[in-house]
Amino acid sequence: MPSIRDFAAAKAAGRKLVMVTSYDAWSAKLLAKEDVDCLLVGDSVMMAVHGEQDTLGATTEIMAMHTRAVARGAAGEKFIVADMPFLAARKGLNEALDSAAALLRAGAHAVKIEGVRGHADVVHHLVESGIPVMGHLGLTPQSVNVFGGFTVQAKEAAAAQSLREDAQALQQAGAFAIVLECIPRKLATEVSASLAIPTIGIGAGAGCDGQVLVLHDLLGLNPDFKPRFVRRFADAAATVRSGAAAYAEAVRAGMFPTDKESF
Ligand code: KIV
Repeated sequence: MPSIRDFAAAKAAGRKLVMVTSYDAWSAKLLAKEDVDCLLVGDSVMMAVHGEQDTLGATTEIMAMHTRAVARGAAGEKFIVADMPFLAARKGLNEALDSAAALLRAGAHAVKIEGVRGHADVVHHLVESGIPVMGHLGLTPQSVNVFGGFTVQAKEAAAAQSLREDAQALQQAGAFAIVLECIPRKLATEVSASLAIPTIGIGAGAGCDGQVLVLHDLLGLNPDFKPRFVRRFADAAATVRSGAAAYAEAVRAGMFPTDKESF
């Protein structure tokens, strides 16, 4: 069974970790057959699937519903991390525990929490309660309104120093890995080398211990979204459109269904 021990082992062996988002059973079932280490039920589901402008609309119920679907699809083959939604880690230990428990009961093996300042005690409490926690620093999307947009973080010396301290605080609190999002690659490389736990980068360069991308982005499902850090490894938008077009053409031409496709 995949576990947090695999993350520590990968860092020790210098093997890159691969994490990818999954929000539903069909994608989890396909990804379970591929050589990825971890499925992330990210609150980016609100943008990639629900069409919202940010991730703030996610609730524990929504995240649990998607987590349950992913767990069914992955059928025990993959380690699953689920995002704690906006503010779930900021309302005290009990609310955080309830939210994390709902995600683990839905099938997650760990939760991911954005930031650490003001809630290091929550991270520690969850870990002490038997819930593995992945941290998330840099461009933490739940703070988009504080950042004034989805922009690269920790470019100035003071902000870079804060991020170094936050990474140490997360490790100290018991996090088993940290996502570093949209920060300068030099800083990400330095932070990764300074930690005993692995970092997983997105828009943070190749010096991290692993990488994560949103499945919809790496498949090229949204032709209008192409930030610098995304590489499209497929053109799924073209596949979806040509499949739908071929279907419509066949129906209109009376070519579908054939007798063989009928009862
Ligand atoms: O919600 C998400 O998909 C994430 C990744 C971008 C790291 O947090």
